Amino acid sequence: MKVVLGVGGGIAAYKAAELARALMDQGARVQVVMTASARQFIQPLTFAALTGNKVITGLFSSQSPEDVLASSVEHIRVAQENEVLVVAPATADLMAKFTHGLADDFLTTLYLAFQGKVILAPAMNTAMWEHPATRDNVERLAARGNFILPPEEGLLACGTTGAGRLPDPQRIADAVVTLAHPRKDLDSETILVTAGPTQEAIDPVRFISNKSSGKMGYSLAHAAAARGARAILVSGPTNLPDPYGVEMIRVRDAREMRDAVMGKLKDATIIIKSAAVADYFVLNQSTQKIKKTSARLSLELDPTPDILAEVGRNKGDRLLIGFAAETQNLLEEGRRKMNTKNCDMVVANLVNQEGIGFESDRNKVTLVMSTGEVVSLPEAAKHDIAHQILDHAMRLRLAIFSKA
Ligand SMILES: Cc1cc2nc3c(=O)[nH]c(=O)nc-3n(C[C@H](O)[C@H](O)[C@H](O)COP(=O)(O)O)c2cc1C
Repeated sequence: MKVVLGVGGGIAAYKAAELARALMDQGARVQVVMTASARQFIQPLTFAALTGNKVITGLFSSQSPEDVLASSVEHIRVAQENEVLVVAPATADLMAKFTHGLADDFLTTLYLAFQGKVILAPAMNTAMWEHPATRDNVERLAARGNFILPPEEGLLACGTTGAGRLPDPQRIADAVVTLAHPRKDLDSETILVTAGPTQEAIDPVRFISNKSSGKMGYSLAHAAAARGARAILVSGPTNLPDPYGVEMIRVRDAREMRDAVMGKLKDATIIIKSAAVADYFVLNQSTQKIKKTSARLSLELDPTPDILAEVGRNKGDRLLIGFAAETQNLLEEGRRKMNTKNCDMVVANLVNQEGIGFESDRNKVTLVMSTGEVVSLPEAAKHDIAHQILDHAMRLRLAIFSKA
């Protein structure tokens, strides 16, 4: 995906650097265009270093007479070469100019020449955001087909609290990928994904948990939404922002996760259970914080509900995909899980390898399928792996249906 990132002159301009990074992590090639005001807040060098591309800062400064003679007018070339224009932060000023077709710098001129998807992420002081002029401009831009990613509420740089904060850069990047994804091949699916660890309380401040970051499950839900599916994500506690376009259900422990999954099961056509659910919960949980003493403390643990097995018993004609995080005997464990839990596919990965698996952005998995097929995917970013798992899931369902 080829993206132009337009950076306006707002306090949140520094977050555009993180956005450039997040877009590149999702496989995008990013061309940054900065307004003169944006350069008061952050240096072009930062974006050049992050993207590996020259940053465009002026309508005339980037044009040589030779270029123009060779019919390579830069704002037209950039408009034609890129699929998405995302402006973040979109200042009140830029949106007013876009609304009225002013073209007095590179970004506003590019906007007029651009025929791809336009995504605007406004950020400003609450009064500016709520001003009738801004409201009017936003409405007109939206009606014209520009996608507006509304600002969030929170404490603003000006010291006030209210609407106007730029959303988390990761969330903007997710939105860009979702809105611009060329394939909508999953638009008749409802994909229920579980992700993250669970936390089993010991007392009100302590819990038993595991190292799962939730990244694989979030990538799956995001990829499903980007390809047009209704994506429902049941997530244990993670530090990740809600993926764009995904229905979120946040839970804490295994029993809450079980209830959320069973509650949504009837809606789903595909269930992907990538959460690292605790196997045990604490029976003798204390309602008060346990005080430290010199005496030995024993926790009594009881098995948590086996969600995968319960879904397997009740799945009907839904496709069920389980995950097996192992430290040895990957294939055997994958096959065992598939048979005992009535899965259609098990995504097996070794979690004791440096740089992949838990907490990492990368993964290397083997897909064990009910047809007997085994596919080892090469190591890749989790969002790539997510798309490949979805591709194999669709293929597998066709194979299962055509056999039945
Ligand atoms: C310290 C400071 C912070 C600003 N923050 C914002 C902001 O967050 N959002 C906004 O729309 N304008 C903000 N402005 C005003 C814009 O910088 C101003 O409207 C400028 O003309 C925008 O230029 P541009 O739209 O070409 O980037 C700020 C101005 C200053 C001096």
